[in-house]
Amino acid sequence: MRATQPLELDHQTFRDLQREYIFSSIARFCSLNSLNDGYYFEFGCHEARTMRLAWEHTGARFDWTYVGFDSFAGLPEISEIDRQPIWKQGGLATSETDFINITVGGGVPPERLRTVKGFYDQSLTAALAETFLPQKAAVIFIDCDLYRSTVPVLAFVRQFLRPGTIVIFDDWFCFYGDPERGERRAWGEFGQANPELRFTEFIHTNEAQAFIYLGDSWPAPAKGTKVADVAT
Ligand SMILES: C[S@@+](CC[C@H](N)C(=O)[O-])C[C@H]1O[C@@H](n2cnc3c(N)ncnc32)[C@H](O)[C@@H]1O
Repeated sequence: MRATQPLELDHQTFRDLQREYIFSSIARFCSLNSLNDGYYFEFGCHEARTMRLAWEHTGARFDWTYVGFDSFAGLPEISEIDRQPIWKQGGLATSETDFINITVGGGVPPERLRTVKGFYDQSLTAALAETFLPQKAAVIFIDCDLYRSTVPVLAFVRQFLRPGTIVIFDDWFCFYGDPERGERRAWGEFGQANPELRFTEFIHTNEAQAFIYLGDSWPAPAKGTKVADVAT
């Protein structure tokens, strides 16, 4: 009888494969749906692993600007609701200069890259949004781990949604996948506060979950309106 070999797939390789799947799926979807312009927004940039993957899969296909939003000083103070042994204030820090060097070194042309430095509750202002509008986002990649970090991110990105925008949460299954914590809690509250926004589930992995924005709900027709009147 043949001896069974143990499966030697280390966690990092497994994670990289999953992320390849994520970015290939994003590229395919955006290609099929002609999401050719706008932004790739990333919230939580650290060592640029995902920013580089995003570029590798989409840079030559689309005319996007790649924007990295981060404190570039690591995680903020951890509030009670986000407390978990793995999160520490200042953890996961990469400087803005290092991030830019890694990203440009990975092939992103400097003129297609922007960075926004600061903690989200202070940096994501209306004045900042004005510098990006009226262009919308093709992809919004959220990888900032914490509930408290995700709330201001979602409030900011609302104005950048257009039908087809992919919103993806990298840390969907943090906190054991508890919907009352982390990115999931922020997403649930965002949905309750904005019931007119329609999303459908897109791909997921063991760590991440993506949604596609479909547009706002159609206003309910007034009583007595004929179908033909609504269509015209
Ligand atoms: C898990 S790391 C991101 C990993 C990155 N996507 C990569 O592939 O290398 C989380 C990042 O979120 C940032 N972050 C978390 N909360 C933040 C906040 N409130 N404001 C700004 N940056 C934040 C941290 O500085 C850190 O760089």
